[in-house]
Amino acid sequence: MCGIVGYVGRPGKTTGDHGALDVVLEGLRRLEYRGYDSAGVAVLGESGVESRKKAGKLVNLINELEANPLPESLTGIGHTRWATHGGPSDNNAHPHLADGGKLAMIHNGIIENFADLRQELLAAGYSFASETDTEVAAVLLGDIYAHAGGRDLATSMQLACQRLEGAFTLLAVHEDQPGVVVAARRNSPLVVGLGEGENFLGSDVSGFIDFTRRAVELGQDQIVTITPDHHAITDFYGNPAEGTEFHVDWDAAAAEKGGFDSFMEKEIFDQPAAVADTLLGRYDVDGRMTLDELRIDASDLAGISKIIVLACGTSAYAGSVAKYAIEHWCRIPVEVELSHEFRYRDPILDAGTLIVSISQSGETMDTLMAVRYAKEQGAKTLSICNTNGSTIPRESDAVLYTHAGPEIAVASTKAFLAQITATYVLGLYLAQLRGNLFSGQIKDILADLQDIPAKIQDVLDRADVIKELARSMPDATSVLFLGRHVGYPVAMEGALKLKEIAYIHAEGFAAGELKHGPIALIDDGQPVFVVVPSPRGRHSLHSKVVSNIQEVRARGAKTLVIAEAGDEAVRDYAEFVFHVPETPTLLMPLLATVPLQLFACELASVKGFDVDQPRNLAKSVTVE
Ligand code: F6R
Repeated sequence: MCGIVGYVGRPGKTTGDHGALDVVLEGLRRLEYRGYDSAGVAVLGESGVESRKKAGKLVNLINELEANPLPESLTGIGHTRWATHGGPSDNNAHPHLADGGKLAMIHNGIIENFADLRQELLAAGYSFASETDTEVAAVLLGDIYAHAGGRDLATSMQLACQRLEGAFTLLAVHEDQPGVVVAARRNSPLVVGLGEGENFLGSDVSGFIDFTRRAVELGQDQIVTITPDHHAITDFYGNPAEGTEFHVDWDAAAAEKGGFDSFMEKEIFDQPAAVADTLLGRYDVDGRMTLDELRIDASDLAGISKIIVLACGTSAYAGSVAKYAIEHWCRIPVEVELSHEFRYRDPILDAGTLIVSISQSGETMDTLMAVRYAKEQGAKTLSICNTNGSTIPRESDAVLYTHAGPEIAVASTKAFLAQITATYVLGLYLAQLRGNLFSGQIKDILADLQDIPAKIQDVLDRADVIKELARSMPDATSVLFLGRHVGYPVAMEGALKLKEIAYIHAEGFAAGELKHGPIALIDDGQPVFVVVPSPRGRHSLHSKVVSNIQEVRARGAKTLVIAEAGDEAVRDYAEFVFHVPETPTLLMPLLATVPLQLFACELASVKGFDVDQPRNLAKSVTVE
């Protein structure tokens, strides 16, 4: 939440055609998915700090800059906001100024003790132009700079951070120090980008991916000062610290729409590659799982007695799918818990517990806090994550990266399929370590998994059928989703997609639960998606779900069925049938989810909504 960019360049070296502003605006364009309540920039020009900011999307700021241009500069900071303290107004937009307008600050996170600090600063004679916690931090920094900080921005930032509680990434510039941006981070994301004669800061690497792929991840409670030729890291007390340099293995083109109308649609179509890339290099030619990248000892992993998956939203649904597969393959109990509920219920953890966190961003505050809590209680922690350089993998004992590439649309699609794939990889590896599956079985499951990308492509090739269905339902006000077994989390995910981008009331239910209450919702014409399990297989729930379809249909529902190829039994009870290719039941979510994603995406477009930037939401939820 909130996107942050910082830039300093040397004359003649800067990448932006027109200096800092170009670089910062490009970074904000790429980071806008993190929040779009307002946007703002500040540059250090000849006449000191100059800033422009506007409520609403980045385009409003760009219009403002056209009407009211900023001077050329080699030092700049920029911000795109997801509002927490104070509504989305021009006034509350960042940057906030202090020290008589000589200092500008931007912020991501929440400063929990801002009310006390504000009182203290008011008593000292300061006034505030906004309702934000950020302005309090800016005024505090300005005060420290003018007094205790000896007019040195980095020292002042250290002293200011010692007084702040909560979560923050702060970036500041001061007109006394052109060519310097000072940043601090606690519990909120920040990465450094290294250039030649220019350096960058971003909430994540997309903030500077157009300019460099060399990046440095920072630790907790660190301050970094960038100048055109250097970056220096310390802790909050000035002790030198080291960051970890890494190479960003995707390029700027991966974060473009590539001819699609929206990032979301493009990302749905990226899914064959997301699954294939997440499998790549994780097994050998003999079908043995090879997870050398894991930093937890194989013997420790073999001995675990319980897995708890921690995640939120879509990532938690990936965890729910994982539960079925891992319990079946490894015979280890798996609990799936929403991160924000976990640490408030006194969970039972010990050294035999493996915490598997799942997070696309690697920055979700609820999940980060839950992982920290579990570590403190002595559990081992493994992170499944899509974002290199992010906090959750860095703080976990082990990490299994998903290789979905950058996910820009706020609604998660390809990360979900990649997460499910990564949990299968983990499950098969654990089964191998513990001897739960014969190697021949692992090889067979891997062969089925390798077929999945082509099968997703088959679904995508028939996207028009789903789009047409969506276009026929522009006035739907409520859609229900039913599923059983692994189809249940798929139903939940289908409902979440529709809620978040098409703003339509949607609920996912376990089909067996219907008769315990939700069936009362069914009325004439109520659209109900049903994810039908394969009619093949030992534990087939097929006939039970077909009965569920009949039950809702008898009460007037419009039944929209996702079934396996060759399943003709559903036809008699369905207004609409979409067949996905045959696959083993446990892998079915990788196929059955795709039509539901396409449906939500198309219906949101038909309704004229911004598919990539739905209202009230932001990607990467870095507040609790
Ligand atoms: C829904 C969605 C969210 C995220 C959730 C967790 O489309 O994107 O529900 O899945 O906020 O985010 P990560 O995976 O970054 O921890």
